[in-house]
Amino acid sequence: MEKSKIFKDEPKLFPEYIPKRIPHREVEVGKLKSFFHVVLQNPGETSQQVFILGPVGSGKTLVSKKFLQYIDEQYQTGNIRIKTYYTNCRVNKVFSSILNNILASIGHSFPNRGFSVDEIVQYFLSKSLEENVHIISVFDEFDALVTHEGVEPLYIITRMREMAKDRQTFSSIIISKSFSYLDKADQGILSSIQKNIIKLEAYNEIQLNDILFDRIILAFNEGTVENETTELVSKIASRYGDARYAIELLHLAGRIADFRGEDKVRPEHVREAKLQLPPQIRKEEIGYLDEHEKILLLSLSKLLKENLGEKVTLKDLQQEYSMACEEYDKTPLKYTQLWLRIKNLAQRDLISAEVTSKGRRGKTTFISLLNVPADQIYKETKERLENG
Ligand SMILES: Nc1ncnc2c1ncn2[C@@H]1O[C@H](COP(=O)(O)OP(=O)(O)O)[C@@H](O)[C@H]1O
Ligand SMILES: [Mg+2]
Repeated sequence: MEKSKIFKDEPKLFPEYIPKRIPHREVEVGKLKSFFHVVLQNPGETSQQVFILGPVGSGKTLVSKKFLQYIDEQYQTGNIRIKTYYTNCRVNKVFSSILNNILASIGHSFPNRGFSVDEIVQYFLSKSLEENVHIISVFDEFDALVTHEGVEPLYIITRMREMAKDRQTFSSIIISKSFSYLDKADQGILSSIQKNIIKLEAYNEIQLNDILFDRIILAFNEGTVENETTELVSKIASRYGDARYAIELLHLAGRIADFRGEDKVRPEHVREAKLQLPPQIRKEEIGYLDEHEKILLLSLSKLLKENLGEKVTLKDLQQEYSMACEEYDKTPLKYTQLWLRIKNLAQRDLISAEVTSKGRRGKTTFISLLNVPADQIYKETKERLENG
C-alpha cells in the first residue's frame, strides 16, 4: 500500500485510543483522585461511590479510564490489592452477570445459578475479602442497565458498603448522561449521593479546538491540516459539544483528502465530511425509550419526512401517533400521559416542543426533531419497534 500523504498514525483517531493528555478534563480526573484519596490510602477502612454525569462525547468514559489507568500504575503494592474493573452496561445489561465477571477477574465465580441477588452480593463480598482486594469498578452507560433491570442495581451497589462486614472491599463509579432514570420515589437516594457527583459540561468551540489540536499532532503528517480546517470542525461540533463527533468529522475529512491524493485537509473536505456524517443519534438512546415514545418518534419523523417541514403541530402528531399505535397494536395514550412522553423526549434532547400563543385562538404547540435527520430517526425507530 502506498504511504498516506495525510496520516502519520491513523489509529490515534480511533474511539478506543486513550490519549496521554486530556485538555479540559484534568480537573475532573483530579476530582476523582481526591474522592478516592482515602480509599487509595486505606483500602480496608472505607469505600467510595461516585457518579459521573454529562452529555454524549463530553469525556465521561475517557475520564473514568484515565483514572483507572492511574490506579493501575500507582497502586500495585500494599497488603490489600486495589483492583480496577471497567464495564459498559450497554454491552452487559445483566447486573448479576457483571458481578460474576468482576469475580472472575479475581479468580472466582458463582457456584450456581439459583442464587438470589442478596446471596450473590454476599458471596461476592466474601470472595473479595478472601482475596484481600478492594475493587474499584466503573459502570459505564448505567442507564442501559436501568432500562433492563430498573433501579434495583443502584440500590444494591449503594447498600454493598453497609453489607461489608470486616472491611470494605468494593467502590464504584457510575456513569450516565443524567439522573433521568430516577423518578420521584428515588429522590431519597439522590440526596444521599449529591456530594459525590462529577458533572461534565458539553465542550465549547475553543475546548474542542484544543482537543483536536492534540490529536492532529499525533495522527496527521505535519502541516497537512490547515488551521481553518480545525476551526471549522470545532465550530460545527460545538453545536453538540461532542468531542467524539469532532474527532470523527476531522478523521473523515482527512480520509476524503487522502482518497483524492491531496496533500492538505481543507475546510471543503470538512463540509463534505459533514454531509456524510450527520451527528449520529446514538443507537442506544432509542433503546432507552418506552414503546410509546418510540411510536411518537416514528410518527414525528414520518411527518417531517413527508412534509419536508421543520416542525409539526402537536395536533397533527397526535393524529399520526394514534394511527401508528393501531399498527403496532397499542392503545394510544391520553393527552396528559402523551405530554409526559413528549417532555421526556425533549429532556433527552431528541425533540423540541415549543408552545406559541396565537392571539385569541389560544396556544399551538410545535414539535420538531433536534440534531438528527428525520430519515435516520425513522429507520432507527422502525427497526427498534419491529425487532425489539
Ligand atoms: N478532554 C479530552 N481530550 C482528548 N480527547 C477527548 C477529550 N474528551 C473526549 N475526548 C475524546 O472524544 C471521544 C469521546 O469521549 P468519551 O469519553 O467517549 O465521551 P462520553 O463517554 O462522554 O460519550 C473519545 O474518543 C475521547 O478520547
Ligand atoms: Mg462513554
